[in-house]
Amino acid sequence: MQLFTGISELVVNDLDALGELDIITDAALLIDDGRVVWSGPSAQADTAVAEHFGASEERPGGLGGSAPAAPRPEVAAVNDDDIVNGEVTSVGELAELETIDLGGKAVIPGFVDSHNHLVFAGDRSEEFAARMAGQKYSAGGIATTVAATRAATEDELEGNLVHLLEQARRQGTTTFEIKSGYGLTVADEIRALDIINRHTEESTLIAAHVVPPEYKDDPEGYVDLVIDEIIPAAQGKAKWIDAFCETGAFTEDQTKRIIAAGKAAGMKPRLHANQLTEGGALKLGAELGCVSVDHATFASDSDLAVLAEAGTVVTLLPGIEFSTRQPYPDARRYVDAGVRLAIATDCNPGSGFSNSVPFAIAIGVRDMHFTVEQAVWAATAGGANALQRTDVGHLGAGARADLAVLDAPSCRHLAYRPGVQLVERVYSDGELIADNRPQI
Ligand code: NIG
Ligand code: FE
Repeated sequence: MQLFTGISELVVNDLDALGELDIITDAALLIDDGRVVWSGPSAQADTAVAEHFGASEERPGGLGGSAPAAPRPEVAAVNDDDIVNGEVTSVGELAELETIDLGGKAVIPGFVDSHNHLVFAGDRSEEFAARMAGQKYSAGGIATTVAATRAATEDELEGNLVHLLEQARRQGTTTFEIKSGYGLTVADEIRALDIINRHTEESTLIAAHVVPPEYKDDPEGYVDLVIDEIIPAAQGKAKWIDAFCETGAFTEDQTKRIIAAGKAAGMKPRLHANQLTEGGALKLGAELGCVSVDHATFASDSDLAVLAEAGTVVTLLPGIEFSTRQPYPDARRYVDAGVRLAIATDCNPGSGFSNSVPFAIAIGVRDMHFTVEQAVWAATAGGANALQRTDVGHLGAGARADLAVLDAPSCRHLAYRPGVQLVERVYSDGELIADNRPQI
């Protein structure tokens, strides 16, 4: 059991309302068994601890009636960098309470990064440099990564993935969605899913990422392979089915058939939509019951109205506009239309190789006109919405104790101090998983 005290600003979050961070200043947070038990004002921490001890005494005993009032344990104040293991006696039983005084730092829920392509090999920095020199991003570049990924061993792919996850955890991400999509054969897509499933429960099959070179002259043949062989082989291995519905990738009709096949195999739908052109993919996503449509760089007013009506999450990916020099969508239009927004990194070797959610938040605020509160919500609660999760993205009672301690007094600093490592410590299920404090 842990009690965090000295929290200057605690972002609790409301999973339902964009930008409603439900901030408690001068806060404390009580965690037991990897879950949030209580979050509230510091002044009420002693009572919360005592009540929790009392409550947990009632359960195992099962004596019924009113339990004797638990004695109030002392909540020790310690120095910023210390972790103290205190002992608390409660109704005759000794329990452990670890008190962690943060000395005036902000705490936010761990980021829920709901869009990633992390199983790949190779490097496309040349393609990036060419883009910065004026070339356009096109779906075709994916084939470069497909060749390198097919040639890599499973260990190489997993090692690369683990390295990227580790980097992202240090920047506050505690939940990852990860897609396949650089294999594009039955064996290579299944190999990617097997790797993904060892690291997250949010696994996505996107065999419909691009038509692989061997099917260049027979795209329908590849769609048949996806539907008849890859999806059946992936049944039970992918929680989500995704497709890149775009000029140069898959048509709306092909996308429809692929998503239908994925749904029939028990996968939930999501879509890459309107990344490069203002096609019909956003409306199609709503029609197909997608939980989230991602990119939405181009969206008409009627697209937004349809998505708002359907309750489809729109996941904006600021790092992709940054790295492809595409126009930034204006989040205010989406918000005004009543659309529920998430922010994710879409970390991949082609269109944007950043796995930093703080970076995405800073761009989202600066260039997409999210308010800071909306951006922080979108990268935490919004990501949880995009993955249909209620246990992450917030720090209310019952949530997973997934959180980031910021080296800053307020979450506003995430946008105010772009490019600065403000994530000081990261906890997942109540366990310290990253510590960026200088180790002297
Ligand atoms: O989300 N748009 C499709 N897929 C990725 C890019 C993949 C790549 O360029 O390798 C994306 O941007
Ligand atoms: Fe993507």
